[in-house]
Amino acid sequence: MTQVIADLELLDKKTEEQDESCGVKISKESNNDQARKLYIESYGCQMNFSDSEIVTSILQKEGFDTTSSFDKADVILLNTCSIREKAELTVRKRLTQFNKIKEDRPEVTIGVLGCMAERLKAKLLEEEKIVDLVVGPDAYRDLPNLVKQAEDGEKGVNTFLSREETYADISPVRLNSNGVTAFISIMRGCDNMCSFCVVPFTRGRERSRDPHSIVKEAEELFQNGFREVTLLGQNVDSYKWSAEENNKARLEKQGVDEVVNFANLLEMVAKVSPDLRVRFSTSHPKDITDEVLHTMKQYENICKYIHLPAQSGNSRVLELMNRTYDREWYINRVDTIRDILGEDCGISSDMIAGFCTETEEEHQDTLSLMDYVKYDFSYMFFYSERPGTLAAKKYEDDIPLEVKKRRLQEIIAKQQEHSLERNKRDIGKTFKVLIEGTSKRSDEDLQGRNTANKVVIFKNTGQQKGQYVNVKIHDCTAATLFGEIVE
Ligand code: SAH
Ligand code: SF4
Ligand code: F3S
Repeated sequence: MTQVIADLELLDKKTEEQDESCGVKISKESNNDQARKLYIESYGCQMNFSDSEIVTSILQKEGFDTTSSFDKADVILLNTCSIREKAELTVRKRLTQFNKIKEDRPEVTIGVLGCMAERLKAKLLEEEKIVDLVVGPDAYRDLPNLVKQAEDGEKGVNTFLSREETYADISPVRLNSNGVTAFISIMRGCDNMCSFCVVPFTRGRERSRDPHSIVKEAEELFQNGFREVTLLGQNVDSYKWSAEENNKARLEKQGVDEVVNFANLLEMVAKVSPDLRVRFSTSHPKDITDEVLHTMKQYENICKYIHLPAQSGNSRVLELMNRTYDREWYINRVDTIRDILGEDCGISSDMIAGFCTETEEEHQDTLSLMDYVKYDFSYMFFYSERPGTLAAKKYEDDIPLEVKKRRLQEIIAKQQEHSLERNKRDIGKTFKVLIEGTSKRSDEDLQGRNTANKVVIFKNTGQQKGQYVNVKIHDCTAATLFGEIVE
């Protein structure tokens, strides 16, 4: 998939970041030469990156230190993604690169975590001989045992899916952190059965995390200098947490209702500090409520940006996808967002080209929906059949690959136009920007994002990351705004 977009030379960095090919390496080098060393690499969505921080925390308690080079590691873990076929192929290829390590140092433990582990279970041990451990997303607390067993020469699999596990009590070790922005997982799993999607099978049933542990994590981050948190879930709008009997008194004391929905949670996190920005992802068009939009409006520090994946602009295709909304419903949600939060609120989407039986006219409906909404950006894919999903069982994957690729290219080209058009509207405007660090291209420039999640680059005149500045925009590309600091 990444390959295709790259071939089209329209690769948006953001697409690449969310896509399966990006591995993250641990940047922190350990300083304890005696400790055993852990190397972990993550693929897939932000949930997986966030899980790797939980896994690191669990293993650090067992005395592991992190390393950024796998040839120094005692344990190598790959936290994997199954969303498209290409995602799995990337991991398989990466595993072959570890053959040499296993030859030289047979005592090294190699583990596969995450969605591919959950999907393939023990089969992975048979298919990939160098793998010692296969551990699914809800079984990370068992890692210390499994690693120990592996060190004693016994391979292990734990792909138990839980209805309760949220890792609420574990403080994630912030990997590769810029020290300014952090992810907080607020829920796990997914109960929607979008017919193309493997996530309900790899992540299990939806469950929400205790809101107090979320607020506490946000408070600790703020105290440690972080200035932005992104609340993560596959479908944040269905966040719902009910107090158990023994928690009621505590909740009442804190003035919190018995049932906390997503709008309530957003408010609780926004109140941590007006200087802590709050973002969230992903919003499902069927569930995003006006209450959430009004809460966003009420708090300046809740960022005015919504990732609202449409997947398709055609109602028949949306029905086959089992998205449970149609084109009109989607358009109504977008209109309501703009009514309540204004035209400047950032909106982005995910689109799938060439889903089963999609006709040329239906593909045109996706393009016309894009024309209507004018997304700030999108993550765009062609359909990849996943074994075991509803679509794989019920529908034929009948759109030829060249047609899928051509339709995808049209979607990408349209998005490029719209990204540029939306960015040009910002020229002359002044935005509050949270500085995240120096620009990737030049140390003389700083980089941050505005409330609508747009990357803004401007001259470094002595400011520090973590500071807020007002930047007046004077130029742009489809991906970036350029400006200068104003008082
Ligand atoms: N929970 C999010 C999506 C998570 S997966 C939501 O409901 O919007 C991220 C994106 O991957 C999806 O939005 C979809 O566009 C894409 N995707 C999922 N399964 C896919 C498949 N089988 N083929 C191609 N793209 C897929
Ligand atoms: Fe997959 Fe749909 Fe759940 Fe998103 S909402 S994770 S696309 S099943
Ligand atoms: Fe991939 Fe699993 Fe996320 S399939 S997109 S890592 S939930």
